[in-house]
Amino acid sequence: MKSLKGRDIISIDDFNRSEILYIFKIAKKYEKKVNPNLLKGKIVATLFFEPSTRTHQSFSSAAQRLGAGVIGFSNISSTSINKGESFSDTLKIMEGYSDLLVLRHPDSGSAKIAADTLNIPVINAGDGPNHHPTQTLLDLYTIQKKFKRLNNLKIAFVGDPKHYRTFHGLVLGLNKFGTNKIYGISPKGLEMPPEFKNPNYIDDVIDMRKLNKNLSEIKPDVICAGRIPKEYIKGDAGKYSYKIDQKTLSILPNYSIIMHPLPRAGEIDPLIDSSPMAVYFEQAKNGLYIRMALLALILGTG
Ligand code: CP
Repeated sequence: MKSLKGRDIISIDDFNRSEILYIFKIAKKYEKKVNPNLLKGKIVATLFFEPSTRTHQSFSSAAQRLGAGVIGFSNISSTSINKGESFSDTLKIMEGYSDLLVLRHPDSGSAKIAADTLNIPVINAGDGPNHHPTQTLLDLYTIQKKFKRLNNLKIAFVGDPKHYRTFHGLVLGLNKFGTNKIYGISPKGLEMPPEFKNPNYIDDVIDMRKLNKNLSEIKPDVICAGRIPKEYIKGDAGKYSYKIDQKTLSILPNYSIIMHPLPRAGEIDPLIDSSPMAVYFEQAKNGLYIRMALLALILGTG
């Protein structure tokens, strides 16, 4: 396996299957025990040009738990970008202050531009609708932990498979592990784009009012629910709304798990949060271990 030391992480396709499994092994280690001096003397820069809670704070927590310092911003109005400084100049300045840069930016391709510009490793923390590879890793890790495998599963994507980068990344990630049956459950017009379909993809566009009926027929191992991203929908996005609730749980097999990258915006009834089937908070916490593993491996000390 090629070392991850010094590598940029732009898309899930930057990893092969054995690299992903190795990252999981290191993440598992950090679930049990952390060396708080592992990254002592290193500085991680987190540049968030878009809002984030989980990705930003878990990277920051991961770096600090391993002993690294953290610099950066989450609000460009407090930076010199507000005085007209360019994206490229901002990156070059931050490169001089840090050993690794974590970037979230609304423009597709921005992380690749940063990686091509800088001599320090860049981790893409979400570039608009394009990629969010660390989310894909933590999603795969969550499924692997629950089912001890990443193949021979039935996975239902519910919401907006057309625009939702989290779904696209997970399909690409799952494709590395063999055969899974993948169902896209969406209102008409929000189907998975053809480039993410494969022979195992079952395009199942349904009336969202029949969501529970469809789920009871599919009997999925994993439901990946997602927000309907209003920013990409013309007109009233509210007409696409759906809710996974107690009724949904009652028609699912008891081995099913419900995932959501969060934030949620009404897709999951908080009344089901305490169900063992609802794993989205555990999923978000898995992001901490995955990001610790990545920082340690990329900075060459994992
Ligand atoms: N899942 C996710 O990326 O959440 P944030 O936007 O809060 O980082």
